[in-house]
Amino acid sequence: MKFLELFSRTGLIGAHRGARTKAPENTLRSLKASVGHCDFIEVDVQLSRDGVAVIMHDDTLERTTNVAKIEAYKSRTPYNVADFTFKELDSLDYGSWFDGEFEPLLTLKQALQFIKENRMFLNIEIKDMHQFFSDEQVISTVLQEVEELRVQESVIFSSFWHEYLPLCKERLPSVPTAALVEDTHPDNLIEYLRSLHVDVYNMNDELVDKESVNKLRQAGFFVNIYTVNDPLRAKELFEMGVNGIFTDIPSLYYPL
Ligand code: G3P
Ligand code: MG
Repeated sequence: MKFLELFSRTGLIGAHRGARTKAPENTLRSLKASVGHCDFIEVDVQLSRDGVAVIMHDDTLERTTNVAKIEAYKSRTPYNVADFTFKELDSLDYGSWFDGEFEPLLTLKQALQFIKENRMFLNIEIKDMHQFFSDEQVISTVLQEVEELRVQESVIFSSFWHEYLPLCKERLPSVPTAALVEDTHPDNLIEYLRSLHVDVYNMNDELVDKESVNKLRQAGFFVNIYTVNDPLRAKELFEMGVNGIFTDIPSLYYPL
């Protein structure tokens, strides 16, 4: 089955950064913890200074690594991910902040290998890195890994930096794309989404209303909402016609 075929039904559950209340977000442990509890996993991807695609949400390393405790990195504030080489990123601990257990860096390649081996689907959110890298470099790095591992059918690309989306579509037309928005809808929403050639619209729960969901669905776009940790709210959204939600607690929806 292809990612887009998931949308033939409603009620889709996306594990936001993996099962991030059970394990440190965006790590292999959080991916493993979400198996059996979701329809797809969502991770965030960024590039290291030397151009390796790594899985990390924040632009900076302080919250989810031990970087601030390492003497050699003391002068590297604000610890931008894009200022650290892959070797440096790989030397950090991505788990102790969460529960005291060491967890290594997760690369995009490893995340793709994981979903391939476990026959899962992955939403690859490409973080806005336009201040650090050209759009071309970001997209060609991310897409090359997807092509190398031959997981085109199992992934979707999403981004708040919409410039990336037509580039993804141009280079890998078979892979669906999603525009992410947080505070406001773009003007002329439907025309705008058509101009980006996206398949899906991912919006913040605070932006949702029935009218816009109807309009989007009627225009042929699928709609996902983040971040929904209340099953009653999820039910309301699905009744409105929303296709899927991103949740920090996938086991709330798919208890084993
Ligand atoms: O893709 C949905 C959600 O992950 C977007 O927000 O900041 O958690 O990446 P954020
Ligand atoms: Mg995300």
